[in-house]
Amino acid sequence: MRDLELPSAGMEPDACPCGPIGVFDSGLGGLTVLEAFRRRLPEQDFIYFGDNAHAPYGVKSPGEVYRLTVAGVQRLFDEGCRLVILACNTASAVALHDLQVDWLDAAQHRVLGVFVPIIEHLTRRDWGDNSVPTHTGLHDVALFATPATVISGAFPRELRFRARDVTVVPQACAGLVEAIEAGDMDAAAGLVESHVAQLLARLPRPQSAVLGCTHYPLVESHFRAALPPETTLVSQPELTAASLADYLDRHRRFRGGSGQVRYLTSGDPGAIGERAEIFTGHPLPFHGI
Ligand code: DGL
Repeated sequence: MRDLELPSAGMEPDACPCGPIGVFDSGLGGLTVLEAFRRRLPEQDFIYFGDNAHAPYGVKSPGEVYRLTVAGVQRLFDEGCRLVILACNTASAVALHDLQVDWLDAAQHRVLGVFVPIIEHLTRRDWGDNSVPTHTGLHDVALFATPATVISGAFPRELRFRARDVTVVPQACAGLVEAIEAGDMDAAAGLVESHVAQLLARLPRPQSAVLGCTHYPLVESHFRAALPPETTLVSQPELTAASLADYLDRHRRFRGGSGQVRYLTSGDPGAIGERAEIFTGHPLPFHGI
C-alpha cells in the first residue's frame, strides 16, 4: 500500500505505536476488507465506520462522494485513528487523490485506498514507479465496479499509465450494491449474470477480471461461474491486506493494539449490526455516531 503523494521511504523505527487503524466504507462492503485485515494482522486494533445513512455512494456525484468521504475520514480521526483505509473503491477512485492533495495534513494523518494495491498487483509495479509504461503481459482486463467508479475513469487511467497495450473494459454494475446491502442474494445473483453477459458481449475472453467494489466478494462465486474459466479473478480483500501488512512493516508507528475492533455506523446500529451477518456470518455490535 502506498501513499499517493508520499512514496514510502525505508523502514521506520518503532515510535509511539498509535491507536486503532480506521476502516471506512459507504456501508457494509468494507467488512470484506476488514475481515482480511484481521486474518492477516490479528494483533492490530481497528475501528470500522460504515456510512450506511448515505449509502450507496456509487450513484452519487463526485462532489457528493468527496464531501461524504472527508466527513467519514474526519469522524475516524476524531476517534483517534491516525491511519485510515478507504475500504471503498468508489471513495478511493473518486475522492482519495483530491483529499490527499487539498485536505489532508500528512504530518498528522495518512489515508490510503483499496485502489492502489490492485493496480500494483496487475502491473507488478510499485505505485511510485513513474517510468514509462512497459509491456507487463497484461492485455484484456474486465472491471466490474459501481457507476461512479466507472465514470471516474481512474482505473483504466492508472493502469495505462503503467502498462502498454492494455485494454480495460468497464462494466458499471447498477443495482448490485443495493441488492447485496438489502440481503437479496437471489436478485444479486441475477444482476451478476446480466452484468457479466453485458461485459462478455464487448470483451468475450477477459484475461483478468477485477471485482472493483468491496461488496462484490460476497457474490464472487456468481462472477466466477459466469466468467470464462481461463479468466483470472482478482481478489481485492486479500491483496489489500497483504499490502497493508507491507505498509505497516515500513511505517511501524501506525501499528498497535491487541486485536480490538469497534464498529460504527451513521445508520440504525441495531439493523446494521444484524445485516452485517450477510458479510461476516455473524451479527456485529455496531454503535451509532
Ligand atoms: N463498497 C463500495 C465500493 O467499493 C461502494 C458501494 C456504494 O456505496 O455504492 O465501491
